Amino acid sequence: MSWCFVRAARGAKPFAAAAVLVAMCAALLAGCGGGSGGGDGAGGGTTPAVAETKGAVAALGEKIFNDRSLSASGQMSCASCHDPATGHASPFFTSVAFGGPRLDQPGTRMPPSLRYLRFNTPFFFDEEGTPTGGFDWDGRAATLADQARAPFLSANEMANADVADVIAKVAAAAYAAQFKALFGADIFADPHAAFDRVLFALERYQRESEEFAPFTSKFDHVTAGKAAFSAQEARGLVLFNRADKGNCAACHPSTQPPNAPGALFTDFTFDSLGVPRNMGIAANADASYFDMGLCGPGRADLAGRGDLCGAFRVPSLRNVGLRHRFFHNGQFDSLEQVVRFYVQRDTDPQAWYPVDPATGRPDVYNDLPAQHRSNVNVTEAPYDRKDGEQPYLDEGEIQDLVAFLKTLSDGYAP
Ligand code: HEC
Ligand code: HEC
Repeated sequence: MSWCFVRAARGAKPFAAAAVLVAMCAALLAGCGGGSGGGDGAGGGTTPAVAETKGAVAALGEKIFNDRSLSASGQMSCASCHDPATGHASPFFTSVAFGGPRLDQPGTRMPPSLRYLRFNTPFFFDEEGTPTGGFDWDGRAATLADQARAPFLSANEMANADVADVIAKVAAAAYAAQFKALFGADIFADPHAAFDRVLFALERYQRESEEFAPFTSKFDHVTAGKAAFSAQEARGLVLFNRADKGNCAACHPSTQPPNAPGALFTDFTFDSLGVPRNMGIAANADASYFDMGLCGPGRADLAGRGDLCGAFRVPSLRNVGLRHRFFHNGQFDSLEQVVRFYVQRDTDPQAWYPVDPATGRPDVYNDLPAQHRSNVNVTEAPYDRKDGEQPYLDEGEIQDLVAFLKTLSDGYAP
């Protein structure tokens, strides 16, 4: 199957479906006194009543987010992999993070930024069939609360033995009394109920705290008329938007959607870019292992959808200038490389993929099994070129585009 449904959806009204969903959620929440957006805040099970304690729950969530004692190593918190200094993304120079009791167990994907996710929705297929939303690179978690379940228990992350193990640590934390005051004196007697409150508090923190959606980049200042781009940055924005140059805005929109106070630089859809296999990821030593995003192995519900293999969620480009590694597998370590890859992937494939000694040809899209390589997007600029053709951007234009991307970092002081 082709990706033409993606292009159709992106052309005319990329945000229509998401906007309707958000409006629906907003109406629902207004009715129930403000729970967590986008679904059941407790991630299954009971939904705590919170109308009167909203701010306090978020403040508790912040403490949990930064508490390293909630890990088997005693050294790892949510903030370890989602560092405010790098836009709540990975602070590491390695492509994946290392967790577990001795912080030596490698992950399989790059920790993404947690900023601007309050504008995301649970996963759905829009009326054109375009996969949209959901949390994680493969959109498998329906809510932020749901998402937070995994890191506490994953062997290569915080690596707690089970839910009771996590809750014993919470009950021993400095904020245990606050936890009881908010959720009931007996809350620790039922570890599963207590764990739901932990996840709920983490979601409230990420949704309510301005830290996660500050809109304070140079781009925002320029949009508000309070700063001006340099000539190079301005050229970069034009290249970013132009359909016959970078065409980046087709998936990373630079205009404000109806549901947010500023541009998000993602439409929360999915695409298959054919990012080269990263041999720095331990799991990739097994030649039969493939991280295929939507069709697995991270999620199982779309395993039958071969046409979705290789698709990962479009990340926001806000704060991308603060990060050290890029793409779901952290394959690249500079923005110049990323942009060069976009425009030269098909015009100069031997520069990006290993050459197969048998045929002397580059093994293109080598991070997908052969039968799924036809899913890779080759119909949309900037990757609708052929081997030997001129790329859409020259080196100077690549530098301009990167200068623009660096204006998307929060905390700009004019
Ligand atoms: C060892 C590093 C590590 C730790 C610790 C960690 N995460 Fe993550 N986080 C990741 C990785 C890797 C992913 C991507 C997972 C995937 O796509 O399968 C991720 C994804 C996420 C996402 C989804 C982001 C998106 O774009 O949809 C959220 C939300 C999140 N983490 C929150 C948390 C919270 C809350 C905690 C603490 C309970 C936490 N993380 C602890 C590495 C980490
Ligand atoms: C057809 C949709 C599409 C277009 C067009 C597109 N991107 Fe992306 N972009 C994605 C997807 C999907 C990912 C994640 C892919 C992955 O990790 O496998 C991504 C990832 C990125 C990342 C990595 C961000 C991170 O957090 O790791 C950067 C940087 C980026 N894009 C910049 C650009 C620029 C610059 C352009 C224009 C030259 C562009 N993109 C055009 C879909 C697109």
